[in-house]
Amino acid sequence: MKFITTNSYERLSELAAEYIAAQVILKPESVLGLATGSSPVGIYKCLTEKFRKGNLDFSKTVSINLDEYVGLDGSHEQSYRYFMQENLFDHVFFKPENTFVPNGCAEDLAAECREYDARVRRFGGIDLQLLGIGFDGHIGFNEPDDHFTAETHVVDLLPSTIEANSRFFSSIDEVPKQAITMGMGSIMNARKILLIANGQKKKEVLMEAMNGNITPRLPASILQLHRDVTVIFSEE
Ligand code: GLP
Repeated sequence: MKFITTNSYERLSELAAEYIAAQVILKPESVLGLATGSSPVGIYKCLTEKFRKGNLDFSKTVSINLDEYVGLDGSHEQSYRYFMQENLFDHVFFKPENTFVPNGCAEDLAAECREYDARVRRFGGIDLQLLGIGFDGHIGFNEPDDHFTAETHVVDLLPSTIEANSRFFSSIDEVPKQAITMGMGSIMNARKILLIANGQKKKEVLMEAMNGNITPRLPASILQLHRDVTVIFSEE
């Protein structure tokens, strides 16, 4: 595991964007596993900047996002599809048919989950998986549990996650109670993983995940079993 500490969110964003850009330049048809949350926003800005300068081409790149709220369609401002459009896909050219976010409004959620995993397999797996980390150690929406789940699945969000994410909604009652999340199988099968964590508030959970016991009670701890993880942490 490679651990990089920076002193600003800006620097974290630049370094992570360079990492992703290098992956796409070396392999334009890369499959990127992309993430949402507040932490990646700066990375997507840096990638947009590179694209505008003509230094980055996503026209062959595939993106398969980690997760989506159940019950929010892509037109809802807090859906992760909307987030990805706003922060990246509307600014850089990805072929629309090459960007994937789980459908949280699918009639048959179990079938949607199965299809999501099948899609990852059809594309040959993920080349580079970007991850944030929740305050409870979740990655994607893999919440603390008594077992790790390999497949994409529907998860009941914990009250602490609902509360943490309520800052994006006008009231806590509007936060969906469930989400679809990629499971640990697709995440851990990614060839490379880039984990970002911003701010002192994330330091404790990050250190525990990287150095403590591997346990489904702290989902990010499973990353200790992956052979190519880069962590970028900003102390700001
Ligand atoms: C959400 C997302 C995660 C993300 C986490 C942390 O719960 N499902 O993928 O890592 O938030 O978000 P933030 O970066 O805003 O702290």
